[in-house]
Amino acid sequence: KRRIGVMTSGGDAPGMNGAVRAVVRMSIARGCESYAICEGYEGLVKGGDLIKQMFWEDVRGWISEGGTLIGTARCAEFRERPGRLKGAKNLILKGIDALIICGGDGSLTGADIFRTEWPGLLKELVDTGELTAEQIESHKHLNIVGLVGSIDNDMSMTDATIGAYSSLTRICQAVDFIDSTAFSHSRAFVIEVMGRHCGWLALMASISTGADFVFIPEKPPSEGWHDEMCEIVAEHRRLGKRKTIVIVAEGAIDRELNKITPGMVKDLLANRLGLDTRITTLGHVQRGGSACAYDRMLSTLQGVKAVEAVLAATPETPSYVISIIENKITKKPLMEAVKLTQAVATAIAAKDFDKAISLRDAE
Ligand code: F6P
Repeated sequence: KRRIGVMTSGGDAPGMNGAVRAVVRMSIARGCESYAICEGYEGLVKGGDLIKQMFWEDVRGWISEGGTLIGTARCAEFRERPGRLKGAKNLILKGIDALIICGGDGSLTGADIFRTEWPGLLKELVDTGELTAEQIESHKHLNIVGLVGSIDNDMSMTDATIGAYSSLTRICQAVDFIDSTAFSHSRAFVIEVMGRHCGWLALMASISTGADFVFIPEKPPSEGWHDEMCEIVAEHRRLGKRKTIVIVAEGAIDRELNKITPGMVKDLLANRLGLDTRITTLGHVQRGGSACAYDRMLSTLQGVKAVEAVLAATPETPSYVISIIENKITKKPLMEAVKLTQAVATAIAAKDFDKAISLRDAE
């Protein structure tokens, strides 16, 4: 029986459990055995009880659960070859030669390196007597399939990452709560949202809540943004708004790549416009908690597709990432998606913001 490993890695995201559930059940439905690699790459490196067989009922009720029930961890050891050597040995000992990983672009890149090195790692394990030639015989190739789990929605070649819509929903709820107290006191609130170097959460939250102004990394404001923001907010007040909401992505920068902080925005609103202003940093409430309907659907359909991709793989196929593009679940070469994702960061670092935006649009 084919044995398929499933792992979550990097920051947790709502929907990761739905993905694990779908992979486990689809693997079993297709006549394979399913193994959870717990605690991310740490489980791969340590092996033993951290790699455990999963059965149909083990994932009952997981579809709505937040976080990741098989754990995730940052693992420095796996970044070095000796760590990956241990990982390869642990997989072979369990008879696993296909890995489905739900994580961000960093985690998925690590998996692709592992796949590339696999034949060399196995050779070294046999040469050093850690494994026998018979043990590796039917596991000469490692199949990697990625599912993008991240609230940031920062991966290219997919319209949505698993967790992004749950996070957006949570942010909107939080802003709605803030709205009522802001309205009562006629106050201004500067709300910092997550997203790392990606402005998707901030931008979509602003649209969805009717915010007055938003700062995102891909499209820094013009040089005179202090005046521009104050004019817009003042105009909204003149038109009768009793509350002001400014959303700042945690990665917000100006055109010189200097960080724009909620404190800077607050000072402007308070000192120039005389608004009674508060800052709210939403923090990890944006990441924890149950998955919204969209993420339950996305993680399930993508988990199914990931198992299909593993079963269709040949020794020549590259690592794949499962995407959703124009509402269709599809598989794409993983490293192409990673390269495009990194191109956005490179464009921002080079202050080529038009390119950064067009790359995000092209997604
Ligand atoms: O990538 C997900 C994310 O939540 C980012 O939005 C945020 O910058 C980061 O992880 C926070 O990481 P940590 O939980 O390690 O502080």
